[in-house]
Amino acid sequence: MTSPPSRRILITGANGVLGDATARHFLERDPECQVHLGVRERRDRAEALVAAFPGRAHLCPLEITRPEGWADAMALIESRGGPVNVLVNNAGYHEDALLANMSAQQWQGVLDANLNAVFHGCQAVLKPMMSQRWGRIINVASLSALHSPAGQANYAAAKAGVLGLTQSLSKETARLGITVNAICPGHIEGALPAGWSEEQVKAVRRETPMRRFARPEEIAAVVFFLASPEASYMTGSALKLDGGLV
Ligand SMILES: NC(=O)c1ccc[n+]([C@@H]2O[C@H](COP(=O)([O-])OP(=O)(O)OC[C@H]3O[C@@H](n4cnc5c(N)ncnc54)[C@H](OP(=O)(O)O)[C@@H]3O)[C@@H](O)[C@H]2O)c1
Repeated sequence: MTSPPSRRILITGANGVLGDATARHFLERDPECQVHLGVRERRDRAEALVAAFPGRAHLCPLEITRPEGWADAMALIESRGGPVNVLVNNAGYHEDALLANMSAQQWQGVLDANLNAVFHGCQAVLKPMMSQRWGRIINVASLSALHSPAGQANYAAAKAGVLGLTQSLSKETARLGITVNAICPGHIEGALPAGWSEEQVKAVRRETPMRRFARPEEIAAVVFFLASPEASYMTGSALKLDGGLV
């Protein structure tokens, strides 16, 4: 099978800036798709999407670091019409510190949410995708995986781990119609690190060849393509989306 009858998409961290833009992109462009919005604490943006796309956008409570949370989410989505065939592992966060001062908790928390959770997510969706012989997994890594700044040893290690996981898994599933790709965004407008001064923002913008940050929709468009039937020969990739920075 080259494409499924309809796409059932799960986006983790769907209340965040990029998760929200990605969900909207799918909902606006594919009238057949069902989008399950992984939410944890904040829900305002996700609830607005559910209201704007009734019957097609659904809330899905999901704490990504808990394997049982994934099992519950899979059961809920299955009860709504069938298993997930597109997974966007988008949820994540960073907690920066120089390594000399980084607590074990800062290290572990960032590894759990940005890397271990991707393992749990891929494992949760793989068997149904294998039976359908079709699936798309898109892992949201970061430019920090390729060009790691000081103060992000935890986040850079986690996101680099996601690239390794992506490449390895892509080889395991290549003959089964399941593609696994990662994206490495640079800075995203509206989601810049909290606490950056106006000078820092200007300096990073200046050093970016395009002289601007990504609009969330520009990243969402790439996720949308990777999730499409047309992206069928692309797997194990890590796409950098950074305005030419690296
Ligand atoms: N912003 C950037 O410039 C940038 C650049 C490169 C890569 N990225 C990556 O892009 C992805 C999305 O980032 P964003 O900028 O859209 O961030 P954001 O606006 O802060 O959204 C992150 C989302 O992840 C959720 N989340 C975090 N930990 C979770 C957990 N343990 N379980 C469930 N949900 C969890 C948050 O849920 P709550 O609402 O419950 O907190 C939130 O909805 C992340 O993986 C990030 O690392 C971002």
